Amino acid sequence: MQSGVVIGAGDRGYDAYTTLFVDDPSAGRVVGVAEPDPGRRDRFARRYGVGGARSFETWQELLDEPRMADFALIATGDTQHVEPTLAALEAGYHVLLEKPMALDDVDCLRLVEAADRTGRILAVCHVYRFSNLFHRLHEVISSGAIGDVVTIQQSENVAYWHYAHSYVRGHTRNSRVPWLLQKSCHDLDLIVWMAGAPAAKVSSFLRPTQLTEANAPDGAPLHCIEGCPHSAGCPYDAVSMYRDLAPLLADVSMARRPLGMGRGAAALRHLRPWLQRMPVEPVRRRMEWWRWPVSAVTDDHTSQGLDTALRTSRWGRCVYRIEDNDQPSSQVVSISFRNGVNASFTLQSNSHRTMRYVRVDGTRGSAIGHLYAFDADLAVADHKSGRVRRIPVAPAFDGHGGGERRMFRDFLGALESDGTPLTSARESYESHRIAFAAMRSASEGVVVDLPDVEH
Ligand SMILES: NC(=O)c1ccc[n+]([C@@H]2O[C@H](COP(=O)([O-])OP(=O)(O)OC[C@H]3O[C@@H](n4cnc5c(N)ncnc54)[C@H](O)[C@@H]3O)[C@@H](O)[C@H]2O)c1
Repeated sequence: MQSGVVIGAGDRGYDAYTTLFVDDPSAGRVVGVAEPDPGRRDRFARRYGVGGARSFETWQELLDEPRMADFALIATGDTQHVEPTLAALEAGYHVLLEKPMALDDVDCLRLVEAADRTGRILAVCHVYRFSNLFHRLHEVISSGAIGDVVTIQQSENVAYWHYAHSYVRGHTRNSRVPWLLQKSCHDLDLIVWMAGAPAAKVSSFLRPTQLTEANAPDGAPLHCIEGCPHSAGCPYDAVSMYRDLAPLLADVSMARRPLGMGRGAAALRHLRPWLQRMPVEPVRRRMEWWRWPVSAVTDDHTSQGLDTALRTSRWGRCVYRIEDNDQPSSQVVSISFRNGVNASFTLQSNSHRTMRYVRVDGTRGSAIGHLYAFDADLAVADHKSGRVRRIPVAPAFDGHGGGERRMFRDFLGALESDGTPLTSARESYESHRIAFAAMRSASEGVVVDLPDVEH
């Protein structure tokens, strides 16, 4: 049984991979935590039974102690991945690191080299390789059913409300952490995995965001909750987003499967504001939702707490008036791989709903898939027979297409067997290298040649 410590007990550190140990204590346990926020530290300690002596304010304090577990999960923010990972590896921990592994090429290579030098396993949370859709699609490609892969087309269609939450109002609103790297190192990683070779050339274009002060509608107050005259027609209204959950429920209401989910969400979307006002406490409580995206807005789980956050914090601000957001609203990337595979990838922020689209065309057939928030589909066509197989893809509710637990189990399995996880740092580096090249291409207007490296 593996034991771990968690560094950064925010959304991911608290509520993602290690919940496996709560549901299945035989899989492992968490024995220590580092988290500066006392409320988050306490809730973590309660859920995972971590004693006060093993709760620390910072990763430095935890890692200064003699090694207390087999692995460290590093789930700090994007700009705080490199130093704790290096220190954890040096302290003898295997490391599961949230993506992106680092924000530049030099730091990525420092991590890969540190893992090699210390002989520790370093894996990156590229959960989508384990998602029900991409796991099946990769099996299809590996089986030879579509022949040799020639072209890959993929897009990450970020719902307008998700973009507003994470990349306009949220932590990742500034392009110092490029959106392409932060959000789509997953997609680039999937494309690399499906292409089966390192990249040779990369080009990219991007379009700046329209969600800026210059486009703010007349008379919009700083915070939507202050009686914005445009709230009824504005898709980005923060009150509708976080108090009524209307955009989120509209997204879910478009789901065809799992059966009934779409219709349930559509009904809830209309009934929820009314039920929330019911004077019957148990009904009101049933309508509460404090998980993502509301979990990012406030840790105060009362309706007054949420209103205060919407009145005073960035989360409640008019989406056009955040001021320091500059993530692009769309970016396209073309990649030529060393084995001749060509790939194109689009990341865009104006989708009606959250979805990924993938299409892989080979010498003998085509595979086409869609991954939505909960459901997915995959069709594989054979050129010669003209037969189209619909391959069943199980629905998933972890927000990552079913990949979270499978990835975590793969990491734990690698620890048990002294093996190599599918998403090792060395393997993950290629997606990051492509993202850095794409950013350079977009800013300098050049095609970037990537050196032939051995991964
Ligand atoms: N793999 C995925 O699909 C996936 C999905 C979402 C987020 N992420 C990544 O996970 C990471 C964390 O995201 P999040 O949403 O949980 O962020 P978060 O802000 O909720 O959590 C980060 C936590 O780190 C803590 N922290 C800050 N300084 C610290 C220190 N010195 N020592 C210990 N802890 C410290 C913060 O207080 C915070 O609680 C990000 O890099 C994000 O990009 C990955």
